[in-house]
Amino acid sequence: MHTHRIAVIPGDGVGQEILPEAKRVLAALQAKHGFVLEYTDYDWGSDYYLAHGRMAPEGFLDELRRSEAILLGAVGHPKVPDHITLNGLLLPIRRTFDQYANIRPAKLYKGVASPLALRKHEEIDLVVVRENTEGEYAQIGGFLYHDQPEEVAVQTSVFTRRGVERVVRVAFELARKRNGKRKVTSVTKSNAQGYSLVLWDKAFAAVATEFPDIATESLLVDAAAMNFIRRPESFDVVVASNLFGDILSDISAMIVGSMGLAPSANLDPTRRNPSMFEPVHGSAPDIAFQGIVNPLATFLCVEQMLDHLGHPEAAADIERSIASVVSGTNIRTPDLGGTSKTSQVTDAVIAEL
Ligand code: NAI
Ligand code: MG
Repeated sequence: MHTHRIAVIPGDGVGQEILPEAKRVLAALQAKHGFVLEYTDYDWGSDYYLAHGRMAPEGFLDELRRSEAILLGAVGHPKVPDHITLNGLLLPIRRTFDQYANIRPAKLYKGVASPLALRKHEEIDLVVVRENTEGEYAQIGGFLYHDQPEEVAVQTSVFTRRGVERVVRVAFELARKRNGKRKVTSVTKSNAQGYSLVLWDKAFAAVATEFPDIATESLLVDAAAMNFIRRPESFDVVVASNLFGDILSDISAMIVGSMGLAPSANLDPTRRNPSMFEPVHGSAPDIAFQGIVNPLATFLCVEQMLDHLGHPEAAADIERSIASVVSGTNIRTPDLGGTSKTSQVTDAVIAEL
């Protein structure tokens, strides 16, 4: 029997609602597929911050290092500034554990309406691979004349040849493994950012030569944003910098029906460190604690996690169950036009399993 140590951080808002649902689904999967998850639950996040003045206790990264994977809900609280929630918990985890590839799939399931008119479900099935440790989120910079009227801020993007090559390689490997359209699209703005993103273009071209069986395309980010709406069916794997990948994956989440269907895996593909699985959405304070948050994004994270942990059959099983609930029943939360509660969606997915 495989046993995996999983760190569970529900975090804030709807994060506290969706992780118990994910555990219910995982219990069904463990019983059916014969693996064991050992959870350690952490109450870190904004409530912890309001009580202790920090998002997580000192040494929290050493604590997390002992787990094989991290399952995270969301962070973000109306009473805590967003740069504190992000820099106090999420970004240190991604960086310390070198989770350099952020994998964000977007697939239009049968039975879900895309806001793009007349899209059939076969048409949208893409994945954004976002560089996750450097680029525009490197957090290099500072203030001059801080809090004075003449205040100046400098924020520097950092692109390394190693950093770009390794995430581009993840994108090509994914294009091979997915067996979809077998294409990788690189997104930059190298016409305007003539140093960092020219380096990106060079690294992309170099890695592409290792994958002659995969088609390539290069787009500027504004054209990419337009084409995510205009011709989403033309994309397979899309690789982009930290900022561009962040923005494009919100577009891809919406065109497949809802933020409530968008999962994300923060991977250290070398497996030296735990990888982290979290929905793309935030803590959704506008709907938190009403029992109506869509848990499917988190269940799709469970799929990604089980795939990463070496249980592809269980991963395929949860995706099949989700697809079958959205196409074969009218059980869905309000974000997908339904009236079901979160727990009813979970019950339907478990019944399908
Ligand atoms: P959000 O993703 O929390 O919500 C955006 C909109 O989508 C809201 O109307 C919300 O109700 C809806 N929505 C999101 N997930 C849903 C789900 N599973 N089911 C149904 N509806 C859903 O983004 P927002 O409102 O900009 O941010 C709220 C807080 O979350 C902020 O503090 C922000 O910093 C934080 N945040 C945290 C992230 C993380 O933990 N990775 C990511 C994005 C935002
Ligand atoms: Mg985002």
